[in-house]
Amino acid sequence: MIHAIKHIKQMRKGRTEPQLMKCSNQKIYVVKPLNLMYKRSLVNEYISYRLGNLLNLPLPEYNIITISRSVLMASPLSEKNFRPGLWFGTIYKRNAKGFTADLAISCKNLDQLASMFIFDVWIHNRDRHKDHVLIDKNKLFLIDHDKAFTGRNWNGEKLIQQSRNANMKVNSHHKYLLHYSDKMNLYREIDRISKLKVTELQKVIHSIPKVGVLLKMIKEVYYIF
Ligand SMILES: Nc1ncnc2c1ncn2[C@@H]1O[C@H](COP(=O)(O)OP(=O)(O)OP(=O)(O)O)[C@@H](O)[C@H]1O
Ligand SMILES: [Mg+2]
Repeated sequence: MIHAIKHIKQMRKGRTEPQLMKCSNQKIYVVKPLNLMYKRSLVNEYISYRLGNLLNLPLPEYNIITISRSVLMASPLSEKNFRPGLWFGTIYKRNAKGFTADLAISCKNLDQLASMFIFDVWIHNRDRHKDHVLIDKNKLFLIDHDKAFTGRNWNGEKLIQQSRNANMKVNSHHKYLLHYSDKMNLYREIDRISKLKVTELQKVIHSIPKVGVLLKMIKEVYYIF
């Protein structure tokens, strides 16, 4: 597992207070802190990215990153209420911009907007706005899935309730994505998801590292599926 070696700075945006960190593989990641207020944040991000991979969605490289007490204490983060342990990081795309129609139009994967929309409906992610579709080098990327599966503090009951109510309220940005999506692509995506094999989904569950906060969640995660 990768670990953080140096804190660089806090990102300008983000309620979870994402941090820029240099990591043991010498790459720079945007890392989202372990915050006890947001119990399911890490597992939501991890599972969503893994499911996104199954659908070949454009996602930045990601990793669960270990933050040691010493790295935390040697940084300005020592003042904050963050815990050392497992955090979630995506590789830092230094020149990425948030989604705008003008920038999107020249993106080589514009046809993936439909996949992105259907993916959000599938994982019940209502939190997709222009800052959560990054544009980097003429390519669209999805980030931020910590509010998927009904939110950062789901429990089995909430998920079961949700599964009975298939209508997710889409927000204005989703409508925007939908506007640019080809209808045929939408149907194709629904078909692709419905054809995923149970074994592929089981692999996602089994890939969750059985350590730290994730170990405690391993049984509950089955509710998601
Ligand atoms: N891998 C990345 N590369 C470049 N910029 C990033 C990356 N990840 C996040 N950012 C930037 O940091 C911001 C905050 O990240 P993110 O949305 O994941 O955090 P959050 O705390 O969940 O935010 P929110 O309050 O919107 O839910 C993003 O809007 C984006 O501008
Ligand atoms: Mg978020």
